Amino acid sequence: MRPTIAFLALPIVVHAASFTPEVSLLTDLPHFQGLEKTTIRSVLNIINGKKLKGTPFYFGSTLADPSVAPQNAAWTSARFKDTFNLAVAENNCKWFSNEPAQGVFNLTACASLRDFAFQSGDAFRGHNTFWHSQRPDWLANNTLNFTVEQLNKTIIPNAVQTVIEGLGPRLISWDVVNEAISDGATLGMSLTECVVNASRWPNFAIDGNASSPVLFPDSSFINTAFLNADKARKKIGSDLLLFYNDYNGGGDFPSQAKTECAFKMLTQLKSSGVPIDGIGIQSHYSANPQAFPSKASAHFTMDRLKNIGVMGAITELDVWLPDNSTESLRWQASIFGDILDSCLFSSNCNEFTLWDPRDDESWLDSIVSTGVHMGTLFDASGNPKLPYFEVLARLTNFAQGGAEPCATSGGTSVCVL
Ligand code: G3I
Repeated sequence: MRPTIAFLALPIVVHAASFTPEVSLLTDLPHFQGLEKTTIRSVLNIINGKKLKGTPFYFGSTLADPSVAPQNAAWTSARFKDTFNLAVAENNCKWFSNEPAQGVFNLTACASLRDFAFQSGDAFRGHNTFWHSQRPDWLANNTLNFTVEQLNKTIIPNAVQTVIEGLGPRLISWDVVNEAISDGATLGMSLTECVVNASRWPNFAIDGNASSPVLFPDSSFINTAFLNADKARKKIGSDLLLFYNDYNGGGDFPSQAKTECAFKMLTQLKSSGVPIDGIGIQSHYSANPQAFPSKASAHFTMDRLKNIGVMGAITELDVWLPDNSTESLRWQASIFGDILDSCLFSSNCNEFTLWDPRDDESWLDSIVSTGVHMGTLFDASGNPKLPYFEVLARLTNFAQGGAEPCATSGGTSVCVL
């Protein structure tokens, strides 16, 4: 029996018995020594210069508001030039920031991170136009009096269109709807059940009473958001991609049901003519047994998406460590490497984004009370860690036309590189 601890809306599964497999890494091989002489961005330039992915390949990270870690400003500037070629706003492009009063939009904070990215030669992805969390105060829980009609006809269309149009045509993608599927989803649920089961805004009882009718008795807010996002991108003449983004799906861990709900959403939207271009697989993982998807499972999901004709993207990867042993760090490196490979070697995945660029800026520290976290590629002083070099090695292998490495995070009993 494994205990589940829920932090905010994001459950991370912690396993009582700690077990760290011996893993094999590309960075152990003589061919991948001396990587400190190169940078991730220079390898990305080779991949993109040779068009090895067909489309550009984006390797990104969150950008926080400059007031969050002003002491890291110079480091951040440097890394968005020599490491990442894609940025996403950690918080500044969310609804609470974009529409602080009803009908009054202020896109300054979001646009300034976009401009920072463009000035560093990076692409920018939008996160997000619709989420139950971090929405404006004027949309606060049980006090709101908006009807479904008002939300579907005015409030959601205004927000989605204004933000997408306002941020402009050069963005590569937007998470149009974020985390609409319930953690309590079970296999076989209809899309409506997947969503209404979440019993949180907008699928909640307007008077706060669980037995009262819910505000949105269905998933129509999802259709509204995507239809209006499509209208907006057409208006600005952009081919930016429209994603549904969620956690704990996209593989065999931990919720096959959430994955199935996402596929139901995808097929239902597509069959009713609502445009959606892909699924963002957030990927907040833990270096614990079964607390991350196997490489085979990650590939399986990408292939399923490809068969439906849409993209997959890794949108928020971090890997939380249970302890600071060398073995755990090696395992963490192998998980980063395997997840990266599953995107790199899939023709329908060209966005790979890390959630937080360095350990001292990681959201994990604010919510996870046990373990040592350290879920990013750079330590709290901004120095690259073993996972950084493993990721660089995986990219280098791809740039050199190497075959896909075996699934090393499963341990050396199944994969020796
Ligand atoms: O802005 C206030 C500031 O005024 C106040 O002084 C400070 C005091 O704690 O709080 C600030 O707000 C914080 C906000 O981030 C902006 O920094 C909130 O407390 C904090 O809860 C909020 O956390 C963000 C979280 O989303 C909210 O759910 C994290 O930084 C952000 O990394 C996280 O990102 C989400 C993705 O958007 C969606 N997927 C999951 C991912 C991780 O939870």
